Amino acid sequence: MNADLVVVGSGLFGLTVAERCANELGLRVLVLERRDHIGGNAYSEPEPQTGIEVHRYGSHLFHTANARVWEYVNRFTSFTPYQHRVYSVHKGQVYPMPINLGTICAFFGRHLSPDEARDLVARQAAEVTRAGNLEEKAISLIGRPLYEAFIRGYTAKQWQTAPAELPAEIIGRLPVRYTFDGRYFDDPYQGLPTDGYAAWLERMADHPNIEIRLGADFFDLRESLAGAVPVVYTGPLDRYFGYAEGELGWRTLDFETSVLPTGDFQGTSVINYADEDLPWTRIHEFRHLHPERTWYPDDATVIMREFSRFAGRTDEPYYPINTPYDRARLRSYRDLAKGERDVWFGGRLGTYQYLDMHMAIAAALTLYENRLRARFAARVPE
Ligand code: FDA
Repeated sequence: MNADLVVVGSGLFGLTVAERCANELGLRVLVLERRDHIGGNAYSEPEPQTGIEVHRYGSHLFHTANARVWEYVNRFTSFTPYQHRVYSVHKGQVYPMPINLGTICAFFGRHLSPDEARDLVARQAAEVTRAGNLEEKAISLIGRPLYEAFIRGYTAKQWQTAPAELPAEIIGRLPVRYTFDGRYFDDPYQGLPTDGYAAWLERMADHPNIEIRLGADFFDLRESLAGAVPVVYTGPLDRYFGYAEGELGWRTLDFETSVLPTGDFQGTSVINYADEDLPWTRIHEFRHLHPERTWYPDDATVIMREFSRFAGRTDEPYYPINTPYDRARLRSYRDLAKGERDVWFGGRLGTYQYLDMHMAIAAALTLYENRLRARFAARVPE
């Protein structure tokens, strides 16, 4: 294909750009994808033995307050009415997460009104007035008892570092709801793609002008493309510049998937493990994401344990660490990026930013509308 535009990465950012440019501008778009499937981290596939849809990179729940994004994604898939709820295990008891009135009443073992709970948490939080590290910051937000139960062990496992040794700015806020609303997200639009993520992602890419090349690393083809074709790049920003300003820090996850001979392992889709005696941070049980799928087997289930650690250069980067060093390097990379002609950087890896799916889609629509449409305007078919 003689491409008008090369998109590096077929995650939701890359696919949105490719779809818009092919459908609206009639551009021939070549999408290069390093992995053996499209969709980036949102990808899912049926587990072969059970047929249960497994999210290969951890549970992906779609939610947004952005009506423009909701209208856009509904062009490719309908959504089930699934609303996500998460629970956390601490010392053998199960509590709803994020912390809400139900969590507080269960944890302190008494019936509290919203005002009583607010007063209790405020009194406990008053213990810390100047937060010099993550532990002090968390205590200043929710008090020591709730911090020690639900945040300390979980955070230590996520970062492999004691929270008292982590910088305070890793957490901006810790949401506490003083109602019994146990939903994980309160966005007006939420759900899961009715026939799965893979079907949604494939429909986005289904256009005669879009060619997807799987198993294709941009850096193996860069020389041959060298400046000849405009590029939207959604791979790691530091890699694009040969790590010239140093490496940006990421956390990665390891996943351990098992098929178990029971129809229900844990009774819900995600349970967090707050204590340090168990090494995993969460267990996902995918059948619960689709209670409407009555064809799932009732004598088998698929679970996935999630473990967190710092990422090396060959690991999948999942969450930006964002230390002051990272932010200084990011500024240098942004300056370098400004000097690249006809290359646009986007998405989670290309901007070194955690983005939910709806944020990646919104950012891609904005890039398309504000920059790409004007860049290719002369080519818009009559
Ligand atoms: P994404 O990472 O998806 O895609 C980038 C693609 O570029 C990848 O496929 C990669 O292989 C490819 N690539 C990189 N370098 C390349 C190169 N040199 N050549 C070719 N290809 C290259 N969001 C949400 O809304 N709800 C949720 O519940 C979750 N849950 C969640 C769990 C976990 C564990 C993670 C890590 C993330 C989430 N997310 C999420 C976030 C969601 O996955 C994210 O918003 C989107 O994947 C972002 O899409 P991008 O296209 O930016 O990146």
